[in-house]
Amino acid sequence: MGGESEKWILMVTARTPTNIAVIKYWGKRDETLILPINDSISVTLDPSHLCTTTTVSVSPSFDQDRMWLNGKEISLQGGRFQSCLREIRARAQDVEDKKKGIQIKKEDWQKLHLHIASYNNFPTAAGLASSAAGLACLVFSLAKLMNLKEDNSQLSAIARQGSGSACRSLYGGFVKWVMGKEDNGSDSLAVQLADEKHWDELVIIIAVVSAQQKETSSTSGMRDTVETSALIQHRAKEVVPKRTVQMEDAIQNRDFPSFARLACRDSNQFHAVCLDTYPPIFYMNDTSHRIISCVEKWNRAEGIPQVAYTFDAGPNAVMIARNRKTAALLLQRLLYNFPPQSDTDLDSYIIGDKSILIDAG
Ligand code: DP6
Repeated sequence: MGGESEKWILMVTARTPTNIAVIKYWGKRDETLILPINDSISVTLDPSHLCTTTTVSVSPSFDQDRMWLNGKEISLQGGRFQSCLREIRARAQDVEDKKKGIQIKKEDWQKLHLHIASYNNFPTAAGLASSAAGLACLVFSLAKLMNLKEDNSQLSAIARQGSGSACRSLYGGFVKWVMGKEDNGSDSLAVQLADEKHWDELVIIIAVVSAQQKETSSTSGMRDTVETSALIQHRAKEVVPKRTVQMEDAIQNRDFPSFARLACRDSNQFHAVCLDTYPPIFYMNDTSHRIISCVEKWNRAEGIPQVAYTFDAGPNAVMIARNRKTAALLLQRLLYNFPPQSDTDLDSYIIGDKSILIDAG
């Protein structure tokens, strides 16, 4: 395995942004392989804001696989972590670091142990897709460490087994998670619809309504939905297939009014399906509803949509403004109506573009 004293350590660090779905994934047809009941589409955020940074290391002196999240050790025993580790180890290749005199044969990876340290620069499990960035980063950094030959789409099928939405974070820009047809999940993977430069005037503003951990995890929430909601079948079979085609067109044509209407309606339907679950799941709160009303009122007054909103499994609002000028106006409105840390129950804002206020004119 190399390294005279066997005291060597090999490390890789990667950073992966989170993604926000504009056509939601909600419901699985296979819980173990994490196969969804519909296609979904997301936008990957600017990596400087909501991202996970993960360092993976390997050394013959490690006696077990261990992982730390935000400095605290967490268990790696969960089936999902183990599935990802198993899939990656099975594809590991020979690795050589001549400078350090390290040579790892592909069969060595079965015996070597890993240490993994991961940091989120945003609240974990607060409905800001932390698992998406986390699992995508874990898979990507391990794939680099172990010199995998697979491309990002093939890696996305591994990340999917860690957390469904994670598969979409392997690409920037606009990404589609194709649900696939195969029972073994081989065709359930992410594809890039358009890269990050394609529609770069969009600005994302996230209103952190609550940084608390959500009460109902996405995993158990969607399980309950599939078991009890009649509406979810209509959504998955009738609504989403048409909507994904329309959304793909809107993205290709940079057609903001269609994009905004589709994204808002899809978010609303996802939350309607949560309400149709029994017992019902409430992810949004009063502040979320007031933000929706504020955006809807403004869009109506303008005649054509200026801003899209979407909410994941939590009360935080993700708003997508059509350009910087609109984003600046939106921010003004939000700060006026929902000043952070006041009785509006709103913590802070995260803006997905560093230069928004400078360019606002
Ligand atoms: C509402 O990917 O967190 O954010 O696959 O069980 O880990 P698991 O669920 P997860 O669900 C995300 C749901 C969502 C919508 C979306 O991102 O598409």
